[in-house]
Amino acid sequence: MENSTLTKSIHLLLLGILLISFLPPSFASPPPSPVKCTTNSTTNCTVTNAYRTFPDRSTCHASRVVYPTSEQKLVEIVANATASKTKMKVVTRFSHSIPKLSCPGGSNGLIISTRNLDHVVNMDNTTMKITVESGVTMKELIEEAAKGNLVIPYVPYWWGLTIGGVLSTGAHGSSLKGKGSAVHEYVTEIRLVTPAPANQSYASVRVLKVGDLDLDATKVSLGVLGVISQVTLQLQPMFKRSLTYVTRNDSDLADQAISFGQQHEFADITWFPGQRKVVYRKDDRVSVNISGSGVFDYIGFRPTATLAIKVNRFTEDRLEANKNADGKCAYSELTASTLALLAYGLTNNGLIFTGYPVIGYQNKMEASGGCAFGSEDGLFTACPWDPRLEGSFFHQTTVSIPLNKVKEFILDMQKLRDLQPNALCGLELYGGVLMRYAKASSAYLGKESDVIDFDITYYRSHDPMTPRLYEDFMEEIEQMALFKYGGLPHWGKNRNLAFDGIIRRYNKSQSFLEVKDRYDPDRLFSSEWSDQILGLNGSVIVKKAGCALEGLCICSEDIHCAPDNGYYCRPGKVYEDARVCTDVNLSSENLKLIQGI
Ligand SMILES: Cc1cc2nc3c(=O)[nH]c(=O)nc-3n(C[C@H](O)[C@H](O)[C@H](O)COP(=O)(O)OP(=O)(O)OC[C@H]3O[C@@H](n4cnc5c(N)ncnc54)[C@H](O)[C@@H]3O)c2cc1C
Ligand SMILES: *[C@@H]1O[C@H](CO)[C@@H](O)[C@H](O)[C@H]1NC(C)=O
Ligand SMILES: *[C@@H]1O[C@H](CO)[C@@H](O)[C@H](O)[C@H]1NC(C)=O
Ligand SMILES: *[C@@H]1O[C@H](CO)[C@@H](O)[C@H](O)[C@H]1NC(C)=O
Ligand SMILES: *[C@@H]1O[C@H](CO)[C@@H](O)[C@H](O)[C@H]1NC(C)=O
Ligand SMILES: *[C@@H]1O[C@H](CO)[C@@H](O)[C@H](O)[C@H]1NC(C)=O
Ligand SMILES: *[C@@H]1O[C@H](CO)[C@@H](O)[C@H](O)[C@H]1NC(C)=O
Ligand SMILES: *[C@@H]1O[C@H](CO)[C@@H](O)[C@H](O)[C@H]1NC(C)=O
Ligand SMILES: *[C@@H]1O[C@H](CO)[C@@H](O)[C@H](O)[C@H]1NC(C)=O
Ligand SMILES: *[C@@H]1O[C@H](CO)[C@@H](O)[C@H](O)[C@H]1NC(C)=O
Ligand SMILES: *[C@@H]1O[C@H](CO)[C@@H](O)[C@H](O)[C@H]1NC(C)=O
Repeated sequence: MENSTLTKSIHLLLLGILLISFLPPSFASPPPSPVKCTTNSTTNCTVTNAYRTFPDRSTCHASRVVYPTSEQKLVEIVANATASKTKMKVVTRFSHSIPKLSCPGGSNGLIISTRNLDHVVNMDNTTMKITVESGVTMKELIEEAAKGNLVIPYVPYWWGLTIGGVLSTGAHGSSLKGKGSAVHEYVTEIRLVTPAPANQSYASVRVLKVGDLDLDATKVSLGVLGVISQVTLQLQPMFKRSLTYVTRNDSDLADQAISFGQQHEFADITWFPGQRKVVYRKDDRVSVNISGSGVFDYIGFRPTATLAIKVNRFTEDRLEANKNADGKCAYSELTASTLALLAYGLTNNGLIFTGYPVIGYQNKMEASGGCAFGSEDGLFTACPWDPRLEGSFFHQTTVSIPLNKVKEFILDMQKLRDLQPNALCGLELYGGVLMRYAKASSAYLGKESDVIDFDITYYRSHDPMTPRLYEDFMEEIEQMALFKYGGLPHWGKNRNLAFDGIIRRYNKSQSFLEVKDRYDPDRLFSSEWSDQILGLNGSVIVKKAGCALEGLCICSEDIHCAPDNGYYCRPGKVYEDARVCTDVNLSSENLKLIQGI
């Protein structure tokens, strides 16, 4: 694309963002339902996720959806399905996980939606505990707790997740303090509805409390043990936090990464490897007596103008098609500096940003997500990834690296970046590499050690056979994280290859599978995907033409890449055991440049 067109597009985009920043917050088309039924509203259904597509681009079929409103209804539903040996799966209001977690087994299963299981059951502000139904979102949970002057200390940054989904996938915020940032560490009780034999009326409610061994299975359960009905969480008294973003170069990132996490309770790091820039989030707990009414309403989670979303995608598509890596770098710098200028969505008083530190109540700072909760505005504004817009569309590689390997991993990424300084600008268009802290867990499928979770989002073409600019670099980082450094993939993100043989890396997986056998002996909550990731039947790897472009396989032959477009299967450049789809023309041109030919 010509530079002038690019500049115009960018100006439009920024105007869009700015305009929307000033709209009343109640305005935005909420995301569409992940469940669609054709016969009438409850039968002959398909289910996907919030992006309306899974990593293999399929959708799943189910014969029926139900919307229980209470635990008693839930018991009836599970009992009926168990009696008729019907496969089941819980699907949440928005279904935010990328992998195929929300599909019931087979194609005639039952979808149990938690959309209407959204009540607060009890809040006790003497013991500081809250009990909610499993479909309650992070937004509701945070708001309800705050009514009792209580807070949940660590949560994912996005309001749109449900407590049931967060527990099932081990979701987290960022902290090394106490038990760390995973929400499941603060669970004190789970009520789980499981199948049961005929003489127990085909369903039972299991109540798992702190001290019960099985709680370590149910805390992170991938949706395969039964339906989580209610969750009780240990809260803390209200506090404030004081947040300052500090931007520096990335020369000493490898040395800073661990100590920074030890210095600040809510630390995280955003790394822009192409720009050689790091944004450190210095974020600590402070007394409620310190003045400040700051709010963190993250720009990327606000209602965004449809026009801006489309222009942004158009620009990115053009840069990709023209293999304009320098253009991507310019665009990512502009995006990053605009975000920094707008303080990422932070305000000191809910209206304007006047400077750091931003001090505010925990419930106003810990998460946001206005784009999922507005009233319908006819798609004038939406979440940037709304599938109805063909806007933002991406892959996400999210891998936890053990703390003792983080330094080497960052140094390797820098070595790779230095071979081709503009190769990684693409991921910066999606906010850079988000690095967050979490701690080892007793949960059987939780983190095995203290980690930094590296969260990387990058371009995905709407055409599965179209390769990405410099995709060899991203694939090498992905394989390095998973195999060279023994990282564990986030259960709710990632591409298929990340889960290949993954269950063997969990030391307590046998204990998990033993609980699964006991709770669900007929495997009614199992699906093809859960059998694959649990190592019970089949493989997540799909070998076919172009499979490596979509992360369905690691290439072993050129045909797994896009030979017609010049992408061949080649070894990694820093991690030589990696096999990555390489644009051989682009790399030989660069080689000539480097060698001065
Ligand atoms: C914009 C965005 C921001 C995100 N931010 C973060 C973040 O900051 N940190 C982080 O760790 N992750 C984050 N994630 C990932 C997210 O945490 C996971 O994908 C999460 O599991 C999604 O929750 P959900 O409620 O949408 O569940 P779904 O994706 O719908 O479900 C996930 C699994 O849980 C099962 N399940 C759900 N409810 C129940 C229940 N009641 N009983 C039994 N099984 C159940 C489902 O069957 C499915 O197997 C983010 C995702 C998005 C889209
Ligand atoms: C939907 O269709 C099915 C099958 O045709 C039928 O059994 C069911 O009663 C219908 N439900 C509603 C709400 O109309
Ligand atoms: C179910 O829906 C599909 C489209 O998704 C349609 O082709 C099919 O005819 C429907 N089946 C019934 C029984 O209505
Ligand atoms: C369970 O099955 C019984 C008998 O078939 C039926 O009357 C009842 O409505 C069903 N309940 C649910 C929640 O599906
Ligand atoms: C407990 O919650 C009630 C409201 O639900 C509130 O009025 C009261 O102040 C809270 N108590 C404490 C100790 O925060
Ligand atoms: C219920 O049936 C199972 C077999 O399905 C049997 O093992 C168990 O002892 C029975 N329990 C009771 C309470 O009858
Ligand atoms: C990075 O910043 C440090 C100071 O924080 C400075 O000493 C160093 O020279 C900078 N490195 C580069 C490559 O700019
Ligand atoms: C805040 O101030 C109140 C009254 O001035 C005092 O009682 C309380 O201990 C203070 N809280 C903290 C956390 O300092
Ligand atoms: C898991 O097992 C491996 C190999 O048996 C061992 O090296 C590792 O320390 C164990 N991890 C934990 C967290 O126990
Ligand atoms: C294993 O998976 C295949 C393909 O999905 C299926 O046909 C088969 O029944 C499964 N076997 C078991 C034991 O579940
Ligand atoms: C790669 O370069 C060769 C020789 O310069 C050229 O013939 C070929 O068309 C190029 N392939 C692509 C996909 O650009």
